[in-house]
Amino acid sequence: MEIMENKGSNYQVADISLASKGRMKIDWAESRMPVMMSLREEHSKLQSLNGMRIAGCLHVTKETAVLVETIRAAGGDVSWSGCNPLSTQDDVAAALAAKGASIYAWHGMSVEEFYWAIDKTLEFKPTLTLDDSADLIFSVHNRHPELAATIIGGTEETTTGVHRLRAMARDGALKYPVIAVNDTETKWDFDNVFGTGQSSIDGILRATSVLMAGKNFVVAGYGHCGSGCALRASGLGAHVIATEVKPTAALKAVLNGYQIMKMDDAAAIGDIFITATGMKDVIVGRHFDVMRDGAIVCNTGHYDCEINLADLQQRTESVREIRSNCEEYTLKDGRRIYVLAKGRLVNLAAAEGHPSEVMDMSFANQFLSLVRLAREGKDLEVTVHDIPEDQDQIIAGIKLGTMGMALDELTAEQIAYQDDYSAGT
Ligand SMILES: NC(=O)c1ccc[n+]([C@@H]2O[C@H](COP(=O)([O-])OP(=O)(O)OC[C@H]3O[C@@H](n4cnc5c(N)ncnc54)[C@H](O)[C@@H]3O)[C@@H](O)[C@H]2O)c1
Repeated sequence: MEIMENKGSNYQVADISLASKGRMKIDWAESRMPVMMSLREEHSKLQSLNGMRIAGCLHVTKETAVLVETIRAAGGDVSWSGCNPLSTQDDVAAALAAKGASIYAWHGMSVEEFYWAIDKTLEFKPTLTLDDSADLIFSVHNRHPELAATIIGGTEETTTGVHRLRAMARDGALKYPVIAVNDTETKWDFDNVFGTGQSSIDGILRATSVLMAGKNFVVAGYGHCGSGCALRASGLGAHVIATEVKPTAALKAVLNGYQIMKMDDAAAIGDIFITATGMKDVIVGRHFDVMRDGAIVCNTGHYDCEINLADLQQRTESVREIRSNCEEYTLKDGRRIYVLAKGRLVNLAAAEGHPSEVMDMSFANQFLSLVRLAREGKDLEVTVHDIPEDQDQIIAGIKLGTMGMALDELTAEQIAYQDDYSAGT
């Protein structure tokens, strides 16, 4: 691998001249992220992250730029890489670099370049790490274990990362405390549901421009992300079929009016497939064998292993990119199957990721978790920690306030009533 390293500077981006375009995108995001902007104002006065060196590995989008610049305004030093080879918005990366942020990310990186970029961010010996699917933390643990001793703590953004970090903690392999940003109401129930739901459909439409109405839309995994995709696809008139391995999740899908079936059966009737499980090999060779001519297949789970593209390749005569982010696989039997964004996160590769409004809450959780780690990380047990429940309510309250929505408050009598076990009929 040869990287034309931008020697003597603290960034490696696709094209620094894109900075002004990226800056406009960031301005747009700021105007839709009032919670983040209020935290920026408060913590730039407090300088809550003063002295902290934060290595981040998270999709380089306009919303992430708002997080990066909020961290810097609060006194933190950052060094950043993208957490997916196809999700970096090059203009945003350029805008961050132009403002002096240390950043190593460009769209279309190879896997080798991806890890090179992570290693570059570790050169400044971080005191905190911020992850989206734990590739940075794994890099510290597996390739640079000497750095762990001076890292106070880390944060993790997504479901797949939290699963793996909990497994590491169970096995005693985790070397510093981590906060599970994903597992909080204001992230999991909003970002994963409404953010992934809308932006995944956005990605499918940008890559294909198909009519959703009347299509059989097969969603694998009816969890947070999958239920959001189902909701938005059905809103556009698609007939939603979900596949599941968990009975309660399947039952929810059924009571929400969707059909549940095995992927073995859905494969033969689906027009559009989206995987949202966090699991590997959800769509494999035997499914491709029965798919309709023209079926569209994509993924919105974190890693690109949900659709087994090696199996598809084995059955393929020829491949061509027929539209941006849309590859046509012509099979040996003449059927055509369309794969979006190479099986990587369709919402980030083919669209812009989640809308700013929803990332406002996720990144408020990220930012406040970094502040918590800076203040009390040294005293935290080395395990995966949840976010305090009051943080959820504070963030949701600020968000509602900025939307001009008022809430009722419990009276003193009502507060006493809820614990009153002498009261009955
Ligand atoms: N695209 C994005 O921007 C984005 C945003 C958030 C999360 N994610 C990722 O999406 C994935 C799902 O996250 P989530 O929060 O919805 O998780 P979740 O745990 O809420 O839902 C996953 C669901 O998939 C089901 N499942 C697991 N294996 C399956 C299989 N083989 N077949 C069918 N169903 C199966 C599970 O039972 C579960 O209900 C994770 O990888 C997460 O990191 C992506």
